[in-house]
Amino acid sequence: MIKFSVSSFRFSVRSIRSLKKSWLGFVGPALAVILACSSPSEQEFSGPELIGRLGCLACHGLGGSAAAGGFYLDGIGSRLSRPALKESLTHPRRRRPGVKMPSYAYVRPGELEELVGYLERLK
Ligand code: HEC
Repeated sequence: MIKFSVSSFRFSVRSIRSLKKSWLGFVGPALAVILACSSPSEQEFSGPELIGRLGCLACHGLGGSAAAGGFYLDGIGSRLSRPALKESLTHPRRRRPGVKMPSYAYVRPGELEELVGYLERLK
């Protein structure tokens, strides 16, 4: 009777250990994937890439591409300050009532900073 309970105790310890191992085996890689997705590397987005992805060139001209709306982003960095650039992206109508430009307030903070920094350097 005693022998039986000791061996069943050993069995349960062993099974807990193997459970722990498999738990780590699953959570480890899952955590690595989550970390890789949540911390984008700098290469993931850049000013020109964001300008393209967000469709700015559908209305604006830049670096030789024609401006459909007649408004060029070339040199915008010397015309507008950083706060003004940021506001014209997140709240276009606050600066220019009735302007037909969508709000980009939804853009992720890191991407918005990169985009504003890029526009600021267009001098
Ligand atoms: C649907 C068309 C459209 C899209 C898309 C668009 N814009 Fe605009 N944007 C405009 C118009 C129209 C103006 C006003 C131009 C004017 O009146 O001189 C403007 C103005 C601006 C201004 C100047 C605001 C000011 O107060 O002088 C900036 C900077 C700007 N856009 C950047 C961008 C960027 C960056 C993107 C992409 C993330 C973008 N726009 C997407 C239409 C658009």
